[in-house]
Amino acid sequence: MTNINGKVALVTGASSGIGAATALALAAAGVKVGIAARRTDRLEELKAEIIKTGGEALVIEMDVVDPASIEAGVKKLVDAYGSIDILFNNAGLMPLSDIDQFKTTEWLRMVDVNVKGLLNTTAAVLPQMIKQHSGHIFNTSSIAGRKVFKGLSVYCATKHAVTAFSDGLRMEVGQTHNIRVTCIQPGAVATELYDQITDPGYRQQMDDLAKQMTFLQSADVADTIVFAAQAPAHVNVAELFVLPVEQGW
Ligand SMILES: NC(=O)c1ccc[n+]([C@@H]2O[C@H](COP(=O)([O-])OP(=O)(O)OC[C@H]3O[C@@H](n4cnc5c(N)ncnc54)[C@H](OP(=O)(O)O)[C@@H]3O)[C@@H](O)[C@H]2O)c1
Repeated sequence: MTNINGKVALVTGASSGIGAATALALAAAGVKVGIAARRTDRLEELKAEIIKTGGEALVIEMDVVDPASIEAGVKKLVDAYGSIDILFNNAGLMPLSDIDQFKTTEWLRMVDVNVKGLLNTTAAVLPQMIKQHSGHIFNTSSIAGRKVFKGLSVYCATKHAVTAFSDGLRMEVGQTHNIRVTCIQPGAVATELYDQITDPGYRQQMDDLAKQMTFLQSADVADTIVFAAQAPAHVNVAELFVLPVEQGW
């Protein structure tokens, strides 16, 4: 088993949902967590919760669309703790709509955050991990990174990109630089993700879905991440496909 006590993590999208739960879970395992997002008020609340339970956290204001803000955040974390051992590329959004509604601003925003944001953050952290000759990168894809669903075409395209990039990254940095790469592909998780859906029909569909089955909790996904991070050093848990039992698709 890999002992992650005392390691350092950067978690993007840490202000809510899966990111916040994972920051809590990592901190509970003794990891010092850089918690990054745009809503610093939420990050301050999370930091207080982590400290209350004996953990350590650093609030990092970060917009993953802005490489300068990522560079500054990475520098802040390395200056504070001296390394980055775990990167959780988790920031993302999912405003669903049909293509013939032409919500092109939402399409491009998903590409910017879900794909370009993940690439920006990887590019900023990877040199540090290469220098250390160790590290573990977690990328949040989705079941939508394995299958395509109507109404989710652009979201699925972004998450398929994350899945493809994760596998290529694993092949390129594992053997050469001793860096592990895990692609996380959750099914339905009860988070604020659905609040950004501006299409009333799809918003209603998600509310109805939540009544039909018990969604995963963010902490369920966080537990799988801690499991993969604690795997023995020679083991790369390359994919985590985690679904609610009642999810029949
Ligand atoms: N919920 C699900 O059913 C589900 C299933 C599969 C995959 N996922 C994926 O899981 C990840 C986390 O989503 P969630 O479900 O936990 O939803 P969430 O609660 O809405 O969290 C999304 C996070 O992303 C951050 N974010 C958005 N835009 C950002 C930007 N430009 N720069 C920095 N951070 C940004 C948000 O922080 P700020 O707004 O404070 O910046 C927030 O912390 C996403 O990649 C999502 O696609 C979710």
